[in-house]
Amino acid sequence: MLPIVDKQSAIPIYVQIEELLRERIAEGTYPVNSLIPSERDLSAQFGVSRMTVRQALLNLVKEGLLYREKGRGTFVAEEKMEQPLNGLTSFTEDMKARGFVPGTKLIGFSIVQPDAQIAAKLGLDGEASVYKIIRIRYADNTPMAIERSFLPVGLLPELTEEALQGSLYAYIEQQAHLVIGQATQRMEAALAKLDDAEYLQISLPAAVVLIERISMLDDGRPFEVVRSTYRADRYKFISEIGR
Ligand code: GLP
Repeated sequence: MLPIVDKQSAIPIYVQIEELLRERIAEGTYPVNSLIPSERDLSAQFGVSRMTVRQALLNLVKEGLLYREKGRGTFVAEEKMEQPLNGLTSFTEDMKARGFVPGTKLIGFSIVQPDAQIAAKLGLDGEASVYKIIRIRYADNTPMAIERSFLPVGLLPELTEEALQGSLYAYIEQQAHLVIGQATQRMEAALAKLDDAEYLQISLPAAVVLIERISMLDDGRPFEVVRSTYRADRYKFISEIGR
Protein backbone atom coordinates (compact mmCIF):
# COMPACT_ATOMS: atom_id res chain seq x y z
CA MET A 1 0.00 0.00 0.00
CA LEU A 2 1.43 3.39 -0.98
CA PRO A 3 1.34 6.03 1.76
CA ILE A 4 -0.51 9.14 0.77
CA VAL A 5 1.65 11.88 -0.66
CA ASP A 6 -0.53 14.62 -2.05
CA LYS A 7 1.27 15.99 -5.08
CA GLN A 8 -1.39 18.68 -5.62
CA SER A 9 -1.03 20.05 -2.12
CA ALA A 10 0.48 23.45 -1.37
CA ILE A 11 2.62 21.67 1.22
CA PRO A 12 5.91 20.75 -0.46
CA ILE A 13 6.32 17.01 -0.98
CA TYR A 14 9.52 16.83 1.06
CA VAL A 15 7.64 18.37 4.00
CA GLN A 16 4.95 15.71 3.64
CA ILE A 17 7.65 13.03 3.63
CA GLU A 18 9.15 14.56 6.76
CA GLU A 19 5.75 14.29 8.45
CA LEU A 20 5.31 10.66 7.39
CA LEU A 21 8.75 9.77 8.73
CA ARG A 22 8.05 11.65 11.95
CA GLU A 23 4.89 9.57 12.40
CA ARG A 24 6.76 6.33 11.82
CA ILE A 25 9.34 7.33 14.42
CA ALA A 26 6.67 8.41 16.92
CA GLU A 27 4.75 5.15 16.43
CA GLY A 28 7.90 3.10 16.92
CA THR A 29 7.89 1.68 13.38
CA TYR A 30 11.46 2.94 13.33
CA PRO A 31 12.76 2.56 16.89
CA VAL A 32 15.56 4.59 18.48
CA ASN A 33 18.99 3.77 17.02
CA SER A 34 17.49 1.62 14.25
CA LEU A 35 18.57 1.97 10.64
CA ILE A 36 15.83 3.49 8.53
CA PRO A 37 15.26 2.31 4.93
CA SER A 38 17.62 3.67 2.27
CA GLU A 39 16.79 6.70 0.12
CA ARG A 40 16.08 4.33 -2.74
CA ASP A 41 13.64 2.21 -0.70
CA LEU A 42 11.88 5.27 0.67
CA SER A 43 11.53 6.86 -2.73
CA ALA A 44 9.95 3.65 -4.01
CA GLN A 45 7.66 3.40 -0.97
CA PHE A 46 6.46 6.99 -1.25
CA GLY A 47 6.46 7.17 -5.04
CA VAL A 48 8.64 10.30 -5.07
CA SER A 49 12.13 11.11 -6.33
CA ARG A 50 15.25 10.30 -4.35
CA MET A 51 16.08 14.01 -4.30
CA THR A 52 12.83 14.70 -2.47
CA VAL A 53 13.53 11.94 0.06
CA ARG A 54 17.07 13.25 0.50
CA GLN A 55 15.77 16.74 1.27
CA ALA A 56 13.35 15.37 3.88
CA LEU A 57 16.06 13.24 5.51
CA LEU A 58 18.49 16.14 5.56
CA ASN A 59 15.96 18.31 7.38
CA LEU A 60 15.28 15.61 9.95
CA VAL A 61 19.02 15.17 10.48
CA LYS A 62 19.39 18.92 11.00
CA GLU A 63 16.56 18.81 13.48
CA GLY A 64 18.24 16.02 15.42
CA LEU A 65 15.53 13.42 14.83
CA LEU A 66 17.83 11.31 12.66
CA TYR A 67 21.59 10.95 12.51
CA ARG A 68 23.93 9.67 9.85
CA GLU A 69 26.88 7.33 10.09
CA LYS A 70 29.30 7.32 7.21
CA GLY A 71 29.01 4.20 5.12
CA ARG A 72 26.26 2.77 7.34
CA GLY A 73 23.17 4.85 6.71
CA THR A 74 20.64 6.95 8.56
CA PHE A 75 19.44 6.09 12.06
CA VAL A 76 16.77 7.26 14.48
CA ALA A 77 18.22 9.51 17.18
CA GLU A 78 17.39 9.27 20.83
CA GLU A 79 14.80 11.68 22.11
CA LYS A 80 16.21 15.03 23.10
CA MET A 81 16.76 15.85 26.73
CA GLU A 82 14.04 18.17 28.03
CA GLN A 83 15.73 20.81 30.13
CA PRO A 84 13.43 22.91 32.31
CA LEU A 85 14.33 26.56 32.50
CA ASN A 86 12.41 27.31 35.66
CA GLY A 87 14.48 25.96 38.53
CA LEU A 88 18.01 26.69 39.64
CA THR A 89 19.10 23.08 39.38
CA SER A 90 22.51 21.55 38.82
CA PHE A 91 23.58 19.38 35.93
CA THR A 92 23.88 16.43 38.30
CA GLU A 93 20.33 16.92 39.59
CA ASP A 94 18.96 17.35 36.07
CA MET A 95 20.52 14.12 34.85
CA LYS A 96 19.45 12.10 37.87
CA ALA A 97 15.89 13.41 37.57
CA ARG A 98 15.79 11.97 34.06
CA GLY A 99 17.32 8.63 34.97
CA PHE A 100 20.76 9.25 33.48
CA VAL A 101 24.09 8.76 35.16
CA PRO A 102 25.82 12.17 35.27
CA GLY A 103 29.47 12.27 34.34
CA THR A 104 32.15 14.96 34.36
CA LYS A 105 35.51 15.33 32.73
CA LEU A 106 37.51 18.19 34.17
CA ILE A 107 39.63 19.60 31.38
CA GLY A 108 40.66 22.89 32.94
CA PHE A 109 41.23 24.07 36.50
CA SER A 110 43.25 27.20 37.19
CA ILE A 111 43.29 30.37 39.24
CA VAL A 112 43.31 33.50 37.09
CA GLN A 113 42.66 37.22 37.16
CA PRO A 114 39.19 37.67 35.68
CA ASP A 115 38.71 39.95 32.71
CA ALA A 116 36.68 43.10 33.32
CA GLN A 117 33.39 41.52 32.22
CA ILE A 118 33.64 38.48 34.47
CA ALA A 119 34.85 40.63 37.37
CA ALA A 120 31.88 42.97 36.97
CA LYS A 121 29.42 40.07 36.81
CA LEU A 122 30.91 38.60 39.96
CA GLY A 123 31.02 41.99 41.66
CA LEU A 124 34.80 41.72 42.17
CA ASP A 125 37.41 44.45 42.22
CA GLY A 126 40.70 44.37 40.30
CA GLU A 127 42.62 42.33 42.85
CA ALA A 128 40.39 39.31 43.40
CA SER A 129 41.18 36.09 41.58
CA VAL A 130 38.79 33.47 40.28
CA TYR A 131 38.80 29.78 39.50
CA LYS A 132 38.47 29.08 35.81
CA ILE A 133 36.96 25.65 35.46
CA ILE A 134 36.21 23.81 32.23
CA ARG A 135 34.15 20.65 32.39
CA ILE A 136 32.61 18.35 29.83
CA ARG A 137 29.34 17.00 31.17
CA TYR A 138 27.98 13.59 30.22
CA ALA A 139 24.70 11.71 30.40
CA ASP A 140 25.36 7.95 30.43
CA ASN A 141 28.75 8.59 28.80
CA THR A 142 27.34 10.79 26.02
CA PRO A 143 28.82 14.30 26.05
CA MET A 144 25.97 16.78 26.43
CA ALA A 145 27.52 20.12 27.31
CA ILE A 146 30.69 22.02 28.06
CA GLU A 147 30.75 24.36 31.00
CA ARG A 148 33.24 27.14 31.54
CA SER A 149 32.79 28.47 35.04
CA PHE A 150 34.33 31.36 36.92
CA LEU A 151 34.02 31.43 40.71
CA PRO A 152 35.60 33.81 43.22
CA VAL A 153 38.46 32.10 45.04
CA GLY A 154 37.62 34.19 48.10
CA LEU A 155 34.23 32.48 48.44
CA LEU A 156 35.47 28.92 48.01
CA PRO A 157 39.10 28.98 49.16
CA GLU A 158 39.29 25.21 49.55
CA LEU A 159 37.82 24.09 46.27
CA THR A 160 39.81 21.24 44.74
CA GLU A 161 39.94 19.47 41.41
CA GLU A 162 38.71 16.38 43.18
CA ALA A 163 35.51 18.07 44.35
CA LEU A 164 34.79 18.99 40.74
CA GLN A 165 34.64 15.37 39.63
CA GLY A 166 31.20 15.43 41.24
CA SER A 167 28.59 18.14 41.66
CA LEU A 168 29.80 21.71 42.17
CA TYR A 169 26.47 22.69 43.75
CA ALA A 170 26.65 19.76 46.18
CA TYR A 171 30.14 20.93 47.15
CA ILE A 172 28.95 24.52 47.64
CA GLU A 173 26.00 23.47 49.77
CA GLN A 174 27.37 20.49 51.65
CA GLN A 175 31.10 21.17 52.00
CA ALA A 176 31.32 24.96 51.86
CA HIS A 177 27.96 25.34 53.67
CA LEU A 178 26.78 28.22 51.50
CA VAL A 179 23.15 28.70 50.49
CA ILE A 180 22.43 29.04 46.79
CA GLY A 181 19.80 31.67 46.05
CA GLN A 182 18.93 32.65 42.52
CA ALA A 183 20.38 33.13 39.06
CA THR A 184 19.95 34.99 35.81
CA GLN A 185 20.27 33.05 32.57
CA ARG A 186 20.78 34.31 29.03
CA MET A 187 20.34 31.96 26.14
CA GLU A 188 21.39 32.24 22.51
CA ALA A 189 21.96 30.07 19.47
CA ALA A 190 25.37 29.60 17.85
CA LEU A 191 27.42 27.29 15.69
CA ALA A 192 29.80 25.01 17.53
CA LYS A 193 33.47 25.97 17.48
CA LEU A 194 36.03 23.40 16.43
CA ASP A 195 37.35 22.58 19.93
CA ASP A 196 33.85 22.37 21.39
CA ALA A 197 32.74 20.08 18.56
CA GLU A 198 35.62 17.78 19.45
CA TYR A 199 34.75 17.76 23.14
CA LEU A 200 31.09 17.12 22.32
CA GLN A 201 31.90 14.50 19.66
CA ILE A 202 29.77 16.19 17.02
CA SER A 203 30.70 16.97 13.45
CA LEU A 204 30.74 20.49 12.09
CA PRO A 205 28.71 22.42 11.19
CA ALA A 206 26.59 21.87 14.28
CA ALA A 207 24.15 24.06 16.16
CA VAL A 208 24.61 24.63 19.86
CA VAL A 209 22.78 26.59 22.51
CA LEU A 210 24.83 28.91 24.68
CA ILE A 211 23.58 29.68 28.15
CA GLU A 212 25.25 32.09 30.49
CA ARG A 213 24.22 31.72 34.10
CA ILE A 214 25.12 34.22 36.81
CA SER A 215 24.24 32.72 40.16
CA MET A 216 24.00 34.27 43.58
CA LEU A 217 23.98 33.07 47.13
CA ASP A 218 20.89 33.76 49.22
CA ASP A 219 22.59 36.91 50.56
CA GLY A 220 22.95 38.27 47.01
CA ARG A 221 26.67 37.65 46.52
CA PRO A 222 27.37 36.32 43.02
CA PHE A 223 29.24 33.01 43.22
CA GLU A 224 29.51 31.86 39.61
CA VAL A 225 29.46 32.95 36.03
CA VAL A 226 29.03 29.90 33.84
CA ARG A 227 29.08 29.77 30.07
CA SER A 228 27.60 26.49 28.94
CA THR A 229 27.53 25.11 25.42
CA TYR A 230 24.73 22.61 24.96
CA ARG A 231 24.33 20.27 22.02
CA ALA A 232 21.31 21.47 20.05
CA ASP A 233 20.81 17.95 18.69
CA ARG A 234 20.40 16.55 22.22
CA TYR A 235 18.51 19.30 24.04
CA LYS A 236 15.20 21.06 24.03
CA PHE A 237 14.34 23.63 26.66
CA ILE A 238 10.99 23.95 28.37
CA SER A 239 9.48 26.56 30.62
CA GLU A 240 6.14 26.73 32.35
CA ILE A 241 4.54 30.08 31.71
CA GLY A 242 1.40 31.57 33.14
CA ARG A 243 -0.60 34.60 32.31
C1 GLP B 1 24.22 23.52 35.38
C2 GLP B 1 24.43 25.00 35.15
C3 GLP B 1 25.77 25.50 35.66
C4 GLP B 1 26.08 24.95 37.03
C5 GLP B 1 26.00 23.44 37.02
C6 GLP B 1 26.31 22.82 38.36
O1 GLP B 1 24.76 22.76 34.37
N1 GLP B 1 24.27 25.36 33.77
O2 GLP B 1 25.69 26.90 35.70
O3 GLP B 1 27.37 25.36 37.42
O4 GLP B 1 24.70 23.07 36.64
O5 GLP B 1 26.21 21.42 38.18
P1 GLP B 1 26.89 20.38 39.11
O6 GLP B 1 26.44 20.68 40.51
O7 GLP B 1 26.42 19.06 38.64
O8 GLP B 1 28.37 20.53 38.99
